[in-house]
Amino acid sequence: MKKVYVTRAIPESATVMLEEKGYQVTVSNKDDVLTKEELIAALKGRGYDAVLCLLTDKIDGDVFDAAPEAKIFANFAVGYNNIDTVAAKARGITVTNTPEVLTNTVAEHTFALMIAIACRLVEADKFMRAGKFKNWEPMMLLGADLTGKTLGILGAGRIGARVAHHGARGFGMQVIYYDVARNETLEKEYGATFRATPEEVLKEADFISIHVPLLPSTTHLIDAAKLSLMKPTAYLVNTSRGPVIDEAALAGALKDKKIAGAALDVFEHEPAMHPTLRELDNVIVTPHIASATLATRKKMAELAAKNIIEFLEGNEPPNKLKL
Ligand code: GLV
Repeated sequence: MKKVYVTRAIPESATVMLEEKGYQVTVSNKDDVLTKEELIAALKGRGYDAVLCLLTDKIDGDVFDAAPEAKIFANFAVGYNNIDTVAAKARGITVTNTPEVLTNTVAEHTFALMIAIACRLVEADKFMRAGKFKNWEPMMLLGADLTGKTLGILGAGRIGARVAHHGARGFGMQVIYYDVARNETLEKEYGATFRATPEEVLKEADFISIHVPLLPSTTHLIDAAKLSLMKPTAYLVNTSRGPVIDEAALAGALKDKKIAGAALDVFEHEPAMHPTLRELDNVIVTPHIASATLATRKKMAELAAKNIIEFLEGNEPPNKLKL
């Protein structure tokens, strides 16, 4: 009987899929992220054939070696920066992710953040709850419009392209983008225009939305120098990975009102956030929930399970990464 280890409770339909295949499924019963030591202890000597892991699990050579029979690690996330892919490749381990099923949800959350920061929704909500609304005022809580503005996309993959769609079609935004490769569909479909450097996007855009994977080349892609290129009226939105932004530099830029605002779903040292951000009204923060709708998390779990099933049945899993 094949044995599968799941590092944390996930939507039940996915574990049922695995069980229906006759696999023995063990789900971690710790209601938190397993430490590396706990994960290794859970895997060692248990003969697991597959591991379903999360973006919060640091999967490196030591973890792979603790489960030598497990030749597939199926990540419950589209991003896979938590997995040492070099160590996986060296051991002939298949790694899969969960793309596409979360694209729309993340793009919607990106716009939720963009609208919320531009319309000062969180500030306004706090204002109401504090009983500060005395009378309608012409100059009270003034925000910014999205319509007709320039939307700058950094990273024009699936999610970046969906955000471009919503910006262009929904809000009549002019879309400019930077990516390592040109995305001609984006240009044809949404009239997006390519910029050869992130700097150009940062200088021109009114709203900048980040959709790059976390790589050595994208770590601190946005640093103090890059932030200084943004217009003082511009907003930065990040639903990709926290370390793409130098968070201390961003906190400084927001505190000094060098830019109009930021909306963040991810943090450099997650789950912590830079303490200055806590004090500022020109930033909105959500706890890495951009893909967190009931339907999407179920689809992600089922896709991770499907990747394991295909692999264990001897087939190519649909989302096998090219390592
Ligand atoms: C979430 O951040 C994901 O990568 O799926």
